[in-house]
Parts: sequence; C-alpha cells; structure tokens
Amino acid sequence: LSVKKELEKILTTAPPHEFEHTKKDLDGFRKLFHRFLQEKGPSVDWGKIQRPPEDSGSPKKSEKRTRVASSPLRILRESHAIQPYEKIKARGLPDNISSVLNKLVVVKLNGGLGTSMGCKGPKSLIGVRNENTFLDLTVQQIEHLNKTYNTDVPLVLMNSFNTDEDTKKILQKYNHCRVKIYTFNQSRYPRINKESLLPVAKNVSFSGENTEAWYPPGHGDIYASFYNSGLLDTFIGEGKEYIFVSNIDNLGATVDLYILNHLMNPPNGKPCEFVMEVTNKTRADVKGGTLTQYEGKLRLVEIAQVPKAHVDEFKSVSKFKIFNTNNLWISLAAVKRLQEQNAIDMEIIVNPKTLDGGLNVIQLETAVGAAIKSFENSLGINVPRSRFLPVKTTSDLLLVMSNLYSLNAGSLTMSEKREFPTVPLVKLGSSFTKVQDYLRRFESIPDMLELDHLTVSGDVTFGKNVSLKGTVIIIANHGDRIDIPPGAVLENKIVSGNLRI
Ligand code: UTP
Repeated sequence: LSVKKELEKILTTAPPHEFEHTKKDLDGFRKLFHRFLQEKGPSVDWGKIQRPPEDSGSPKKSEKRTRVASSPLRILRESHAIQPYEKIKARGLPDNISSVLNKLVVVKLNGGLGTSMGCKGPKSLIGVRNENTFLDLTVQQIEHLNKTYNTDVPLVLMNSFNTDEDTKKILQKYNHCRVKIYTFNQSRYPRINKESLLPVAKNVSFSGENTEAWYPPGHGDIYASFYNSGLLDTFIGEGKEYIFVSNIDNLGATVDLYILNHLMNPPNGKPCEFVMEVTNKTRADVKGGTLTQYEGKLRLVEIAQVPKAHVDEFKSVSKFKIFNTNNLWISLAAVKRLQEQNAIDMEIIVNPKTLDGGLNVIQLETAVGAAIKSFENSLGINVPRSRFLPVKTTSDLLLVMSNLYSLNAGSLTMSEKREFPTVPLVKLGSSFTKVQDYLRRFESIPDMLELDHLTVSGDVTFGKNVSLKGTVIIIANHGDRIDIPPGAVLENKIVSGNLRI
C-alpha cells in the first residue's frame, strides 16, 4: 500500500506533457512489483525441466525419441522443439524473396549503455570496426538487403531513457540511407530500496540527485512498450507479419532469409509464432539461458532460476547443449493478441545493485526470450555460432577489430585465411577494460590469424604490426611495464618482467 502511495506522489510531480507516459510506466511497474511480492519460491520446478528433443535431421533418431512421449499431441509438438539450421536451410529460399522481406521488421534492442566498456552514452554508438559503430553496421546490413532485393525493410530501435536522446541525434546521419528508421522508448521504472521496499525516487526527474533512481526494466519490456508506442499496430496495418529482434551488440544477428522463409511458408501449414535461435554451448558459455522443455512447451531457463544444488548440472555442456542467442523471430499478430489478453508471462529477474552513495537497491527486470512459453507453435533453431558474435568486453572488441574477420556490407565473417573455424580465447586484463585505454595500448591491431589463446595482464602496450600466434601470455607485474616492439612476432610465448622501448 505504501508503495502505491509513493508512486502516486511521484506521479503528481510529472509535468503535463509527461503525465500520460509516466502513468503508464508507473502502472506497469506497480503490476510487476505486485507480482514480485506475491511470488514465493522458485519460478521453476527442477524436476519438471527436460532437455528439449533435438531434431538431428535423421528420421530414425527422432522417431525413437518421440516414442517416449505420453500423448500423440505431445509427440507432434516435441518432435519439432529444436531443429538444426541445416534442415531449415535445406528448404531453400522462396522465389519471391522481396515479398517475404516486405513482411519483416528488424528490431534492435538499444536500451543499454556502454558502461561495462567504460563508455558513457549508448553502447550502440561505440566504434567497433573501421570507425563504424554497432548502429552504423546495422544500418549498412539492412540497407544492403533493401538495395539487393529492392525492398523497404524498416529498422526499429527500442531505446531507453538512457539512450534515446543521444541515439536520435545520430539518426540524422542516416537520412539518405535506404532504411527507414523508427524508434520507441521502453519503460522507465523506479529502483526500490532493498530494506524499505520503497522507491528511491521522490519525483519524476532522472537527473541530479535522481540520476540513479530509475532504470530500464530489461528487454522483456519490448512487448508492452512496442504495443503502447502504437508501432505494433502501424506495422500490422502495413501488412508486416514478423519482427526479428536481437541485441544491438550482436554483430552476427543479420537477417537470415532461410529462417524467414521457414516462417512465411511453414512446412505443416501451422504458423510458428516464435523462433528462438540457439547455438551450441562451449565451456566458456556459462551465462546465457538454455531452452528446455517444461510441461510440454519450450521454456527458457536462466541460471538465476536454478536451485543451487543443480547449478553444475545446468552449466554442463552435455545435459543442456545449447543456449539462447537472443535472436528472436516473433509474430506481430501474436504479440498483439497476447498483449491484449495480458497473457505474456515472463519470470521476474531480481537484479540487486549498490548505488554510488552505497544504497542497496533492487530492480525488477524481464527478458524478451522468457515469453517463448506464451506463444503457440514455438521453435528453437540451432544456428551456427557465427550468428552469435556479441561484443561485451574489449577482449571481444579486439577479435572483431582484427584480421580474423572481414567486413562486407556491414556483416562480419570469419576470414578465409584462418585455417580453423574456432575463435581464439582472448583475455585482456583490467588495464584494457575501458575502450579508451584499450585503444591507447594498441598502435595497430595485431595479426591474429594464427592465434589460439591470448592472455594479457598489467601495463602492456603493443607496437605497430605485431603478430600473435598459438598461445601467447604477457604479464607485467605491478610496477613493471611491457612494450611489445613494432613488428614483433610472438609464437607460443610467455612474456613477463619489464620491457620498455
Ligand atoms: P544486456 O545488457 O542484457 O546484455 O543487453 P547481457 O548482459 O549480455 O544479457 P543477455 O543475456 O544478452 O540478455 C542485451 C541487449 O539488450 C538491450 C541492450 O542494449 C543489448 O542490446 N537492453 C537491455 C535493452 O534494450 N533494454 C534493457 O532494459 C536491457
């Protein structure tokens, strides 16, 4: 009750032109917070989680697996739970590529900041390759598509109050590109004091003493915000059928024509409302959620939902082989239907934070992929790793800036000169965390075509035209500095001590 009162007080401070959307935001928050207070205990029952049947492409194997299912209905559904990309690809492309593309809208999740790489402002505006930002590359990819097929696939950016202003300023730059760009804002929710469970904010402002009082509530917010923005109806009115949603920092998330074809021409004639692209886990992929089968439906399970006793089992590569890339294809009509029925069910993620002043708060979030269980006839597609190329750290940035990749119309592909298709394991130490420091430490990006593993720690700099091959470990202890000289070739080397040039 006291939260309700506090929220009402905050609303009274909204200027008239902000009143309506602040009210919508605070209503949305109140519902989420109410659910949070009601829900006790774990959101999933571990005993009910099953590995979803994967269609290996060989009919015999899938036949064997489906025989254990209990009802004919389940057999049908289960046998389609996760399909290999190769099978989708084998169905080929439609004759009318332009007409299927004209039913598609590309949505990029653009609510996040570049803080984890030490940048202020939207993450999408960080330069990732030849001065191109994530946003530049996205626009180039879609423009290429539109020019190639003579289509008008629009790009929609879901901004947050943190990214909207800076993003909009930049958008003028693309006025002459063949991509129509739309934006909408996700909600703005109040952070909650962990002890009192009351909002930290005393008014609607999000600057000054209120800078840390508000947050964007995760990408699961897309359904409500997209609907509320009116864009969902606009696109349905224009004959659009699917959105392709992905993280703006995933450089591998390009429009895939085979998946689009599969959606537009479903093999059993039954429209698939939701596709989640998953990819095979490696031991390094402990973070992403996995797609499971739960009560006969596909369900995304995140590590935070797993009881402690089962965390190792959850992480194991053998039991849960795949993880969510957050590349999602979702039916617009289904979003509209479910949103109007208030039937999109996403688990609440409780994210604890400590504010700069030391105050402990919680923020309640949801994830876009968690809604898969609310859609009909949903499907996982096991895609090649190349569709998951996220840039979360400067170590990832080093890889995408290097000659391991070549850039073509906004898309990065692994260089053909690399003899094996795996990506090297790169671990740059804390002196490289901020993009600015990282850039300062490389006079040019080293040749990494033959690299397997790179670890760098401490005060290290790289001269021009360095080559790194095999396993290279460079460690400058506290007080030491290592300058790798220009032109150096380091092959299976450990460098330590003090080396200044
Ligand atoms: P995250 O910050 O959630 O990345 O942003 P993550 O930590 O790797 O988590 P997952 O597992 O990928 O989800 C992922 C994308 O979602 C956007 C970010 O801008 C980024 O593109 N995002 C995140 C939003 O648009 N709004 C949010 O509230 C959170």
